[in-house]
Amino acid sequence: MERIKLAIERARAQAGTAQPQPSPAWEPRTIDLPPLPRRTVDAVPINLLPLDPFHLEQHRIVGLDQNNPLRQSFDLLRTQVLQKMQEHGWRTVAITSPSMASGKTVVSINLAMSIAHHPSKTALLVDFDLRRPSVATYLGLPAGNSLNEVLTGEAPLDSAILHVGIPGFQVLATQRRVMGAADVLASDRVSHLINGLRDESPDRIVVIDLPPVTAVDDVIAVLPRVDCVLVVIGSGSSTTREIEEAKRHLSRFNVLGVAVNMAPLSQAHIGYY
Ligand SMILES: Nc1ncnc2c1ncn2[C@@H]1O[C@H](COP(=O)(O)OP(=O)(O)OP(=O)(O)O)[C@@H](O)[C@H]1O
Ligand SMILES: [Mg+2]
Repeated sequence: MERIKLAIERARAQAGTAQPQPSPAWEPRTIDLPPLPRRTVDAVPINLLPLDPFHLEQHRIVGLDQNNPLRQSFDLLRTQVLQKMQEHGWRTVAITSPSMASGKTVVSINLAMSIAHHPSKTALLVDFDLRRPSVATYLGLPAGNSLNEVLTGEAPLDSAILHVGIPGFQVLATQRRVMGAADVLASDRVSHLINGLRDESPDRIVVIDLPPVTAVDDVIAVLPRVDCVLVVIGSGSSTTREIEEAKRHLSRFNVLGVAVNMAPLSQAHIGYY
């Protein structure tokens, strides 16, 4: 017990005489840190809005559904469209029809998604049906910057181009009706916009959804700014007169061909593959 007491007293005495040593740590020093790695969040596109597969299915959009037999039809259409466009060096394609509700928007979206699935192409879908825009509704896009704000100069183009989780597929949607649509479509602003979108990447195909050619002059206003046009005819939904009129309107533009939509499939067609 006595030895412990002595040891404690000795330790106290030593502590009392010990001089505090200045810590080197307080002195300011310059430390060279290695550069920080890039934040992984930078690799994610800013306007990423993943799509809801159930919503797409309800609107006949099959681009997310590998097993949907309709995808084959759109891939076949894509191959034909791309071949013809490549032959002529065309990279912007508009979709119109002789009359309303022929399936133009459904075809535009599915065609653009199919082009995006092509290994060497990307697709940008633009909703230039400024009177009755429906791409945003069919894709289930929430309100936000869109072609409306780009056209009025309220938002930069980059903020309105959306990535929706399909690699190589982007959308420039229109959220609200645009007044004076034909004048807007004939403007230099739209001309520069289409050229800019096309020239941003050599792999990019710009797919443009339009109104019917016979209903309004919007189509005739914008087509001189587009390389070629695909005509969608809804089986049984256009009269011969409307088709003749559409043919006359489109005769001075590069018509890629006619896609017949809503046609009943023959048994042989359904069963073969
Ligand atoms: N192949 C098809 N079979 C059955 N219904 C279809 C088919 N294609 C489109 N539809 C339906 O027809 C309706 C009109 O389609 P969509 O909006 O694509 O036509 P549109 O030509 O773009 O119309 P608008 O002239 O109003 O722009 C939609 O309800 C769509 O789901
Ligand atoms: Mg439409």
